[in-house]
Amino acid sequence: MNARFRWMFGLLILVAFAAGASRLSSRERSAPPAQKTSSAPAQQSQIERGRYLVENVAMCQECHTPRDASGEIDKSRWLQGAATWIMPVHPTTKWAMRAPALAGFQGYTEEQGEEILERGIGPNGLPIQPPMHIYHMNHADAQAIIAYLRSLPGSYPQQ
Ligand code: HEC
Repeated sequence: MNARFRWMFGLLILVAFAAGASRLSSRERSAPPAQKTSSAPAQQSQIERGRYLVENVAMCQECHTPRDASGEIDKSRWLQGAATWIMPVHPTTKWAMRAPALAGFQGYTEEQGEEILERGIGPNGLPIQPPMHIYHMNHADAQAIIAYLRSLPGSYPQQ
């Protein structure tokens, strides 16, 4: 093999390699977009996540569901609003005596709900009063909780 031939051969391999690589990357570029999941199951899983956060993490029902005569949460009136049942050890002027109905989440815009759950600010622009917590939820969690609350039947008379 003379030097010139070897040089040509090397070049040939290089060109073949480059062509193969560019074909590969163009195939990657033209790959079809990931299958879009239909929005119904996506929304359902968001509601399920909201239910989990409400029932098992933030425990909103502890204050927002009325209790029966023995002090147990009355599941037949789930998140329908309740009188405050816990009292502060040290008297304070800031203590809300009622937790409003959440089922259906009527009367709140998306933005108001997010402001309450992400920053602890009510629709009146003031901090939410205790015993409600000032939550600092992330946006996705707040949205999931709102979706869950909206999924509940909500035309209950206020207790
Ligand atoms: C420890 C008791 C408690 C828990 C737990 C609780 N809340 Fe509340 N919540 C209250 C009380 C009391 C109020 C009334 C506060 C006020 O008047 O400022 C309230 C108010 C609200 C309001 C109305 C705010 C306004 O200014 O209109 C919303 C919405 C709300 N809560 C949602 C939730 C959600 C969602 C959860 C769970 C993620 C939750 N709360 C957990 C006690 C609680």
